[in-house]
Amino acid sequence: MTRVTAPLVRSRKVRDGADPLVMLTAYDAPSARHVDASGADMILVGDSLAMVVLGYDDTLQVTIDDMAHHTAAVARTKPKALIVGDLPWMSYHVSSEETVRNAATLVRAGAQAVKLEGGRRRLAMIESIVSAEIPVMGHIGLTPQSVHAMGGFKVQGRSADAAMALIDAAKALAHAGCFAIVLEGVPVRVAKMVTDSVDVPTIGIGAGPNCDGQVLVYHDVLGIEDRLMPKFVRRYADVASTSVDALGNYVADVRAGNFPNDAESYHMTDEQAEALGLYGC
Ligand code: KIV
Repeated sequence: MTRVTAPLVRSRKVRDGADPLVMLTAYDAPSARHVDASGADMILVGDSLAMVVLGYDDTLQVTIDDMAHHTAAVARTKPKALIVGDLPWMSYHVSSEETVRNAATLVRAGAQAVKLEGGRRRLAMIESIVSAEIPVMGHIGLTPQSVHAMGGFKVQGRSADAAMALIDAAKALAHAGCFAIVLEGVPVRVAKMVTDSVDVPTIGIGAGPNCDGQVLVYHDVLGIEDRLMPKFVRRYADVASTSVDALGNYVADVRAGNFPNDAESYHMTDEQAEALGLYGC
């Protein structure tokens, strides 16, 4: 089994003839096994953990310890896919030293690369992590950790100036050493301009079909998260309904005395039952 590496991902530009890259999130061992078995190139242990697993309203609540805990669970499955650990809010904003330490925490938990959000303001931190030999994936456009600064989860780069700023940010991130860049929530034409302007692959989410790859959240693809359905999500299953139906059948069987049956129960020999004074049970 050849494991996917950051340099391998770095080389995968669609314009050079590569197939589009596929990344999916996973947060624990079962989801990591499913994603790896699907053949995806990368597993992102995303800070979307906060919203789809831990029940928070935004991603700002998870800590580096939360992310390390879930990265370790994914890493224990030893996937072929590259494991990318997401640096949570405030884990790469204070100082280069703290940033590198936090990136190292995710690597020691099993990540083979880290992802962080933001453009030019993050260059110094990206360079510090890259200097510590840790591959960095950038993330620009709609950056959920900036939810308050953006005034909500809003599509970015809709004006010509904002689009030019995104292209500039992507070039700066690539120059600082990012091996790939997530482009989230930007118009199709802007995503194409950004993708054409850098030599590293872009991985889109809500950024149209012209990126070098796509990423979606596990719970969205499978329909486990069924309360919200952003426009850019395609649901490939309805696991929430399947789960509720299956669990409802279990509840009904127990209440009706239909579970467990004889084959689902353990037994002792007749001799041992007689020794206990049990007959005909
Ligand atoms: O945390 C996450 O799941 C992400 C993806 C949406 C790119 O950052």
